[in-house]
Amino acid sequence: MSPFLLTRTLPEDATDAALRADVLYGLTRTPKTLPPKWFYDAHGSELFDEITELPEYYPTRAEREILIARSGAISAATGARTLVELGSGSSEKTRHLLDALGAGLHTYVPVDVSESALTQAGHALVAERPGLAVHALIADFTADLALPDTPGPRLLAFLGGTIGNLLPAERAAFLASLRALMAPGDALLLGTDLVKDEAVLVAAYDDAAGVTAAFNKNVLSVVNRELGADFDPGAFEHVARWDAGSEWIEMRLRSRTAQTVKIPALDLAVDFAPGEELRTEVSAKFRQDGVRAELTAAGLDLAHWWTDREGRFALSLSLAR
Ligand SMILES: C[S@@+](CC[C@H](N)C(=O)[O-])C[C@H]1O[C@@H](n2cnc3c(N)ncnc32)[C@H](O)[C@@H]1O
Repeated sequence: MSPFLLTRTLPEDATDAALRADVLYGLTRTPKTLPPKWFYDAHGSELFDEITELPEYYPTRAEREILIARSGAISAATGARTLVELGSGSSEKTRHLLDALGAGLHTYVPVDVSESALTQAGHALVAERPGLAVHALIADFTADLALPDTPGPRLLAFLGGTIGNLLPAERAAFLASLRALMAPGDALLLGTDLVKDEAVLVAAYDDAAGVTAAFNKNVLSVVNRELGADFDPGAFEHVARWDAGSEWIEMRLRSRTAQTVKIPALDLAVDFAPGEELRTEVSAKFRQDGVRAELTAAGLDLAHWWTDREGRFALSLSLAR
């Protein structure tokens, strides 16, 4: 079997320190916020995989359709010998890219905060694909990312529309940091969900079966487990709202009553007013001109823009100048 390496780029106490800092900052400001990366413990990663199969959640199906149609072109345009995937999760859709890149691909480097997702996907991939080296990194892709020394050209893939979880200033810093990891001729494959009808967007984040609601509330269970907090997930209501001005979906947790939550590890008591909302995720939706401008500002030239047949989702391929 080909090798599977798993590297933790940050010591475990750094993850703990980052969670403490984010919870302290986010729950003591107005409005209250938590960053979406804390959804993804093992249970949260499983819930996300369930979301990708929901009838309302079109982004995964739309992006898969594009990958099936365009992976050959992506392979021909990049000739990638290393594929780095940020926020790789289950690496499910990535299989189309791996197939197209074929024997020319030397190493696949999935990067995620979720150790369980990386381990599961990594073991399955090396078993299925003799000859492919998989070097997984447990890392925060918004922090300084150090990539293993593998042959170029490199293709960086950031799928699933996850870039929309970053706020505009964070996106600019993030894209610049990716460009700094790339040599001229390396490529970035970026999945972006597109602006569309509000009802379709809201349904994708508020499904009838309540899986997205459970995913949203999972962040409270993570804070309970890791920091000894006493959040009652049942005392919060899942909210998904379209912000037409910013062109993003916001996921929030609305307190059903006046309540005080204790977080012993931070020596903190957090008051919630009835109806007060905690923002847990922003998911920006894009237009081609905006994506091109953001890539250009980061030193990347948009070379291809592909959408699914219904024009719901786009994959762009850009090259480092
Ligand atoms: C929306 S899911 C997308 C998963 C997969 N790429 C797909 O398209 O189905 C986001 C993924 O990014 C990971 N993630 C979120 N924030 C992260 C961060 N700051 N650093 C590394 N991984 C992160 C999550 O664990 C999750 O696997």
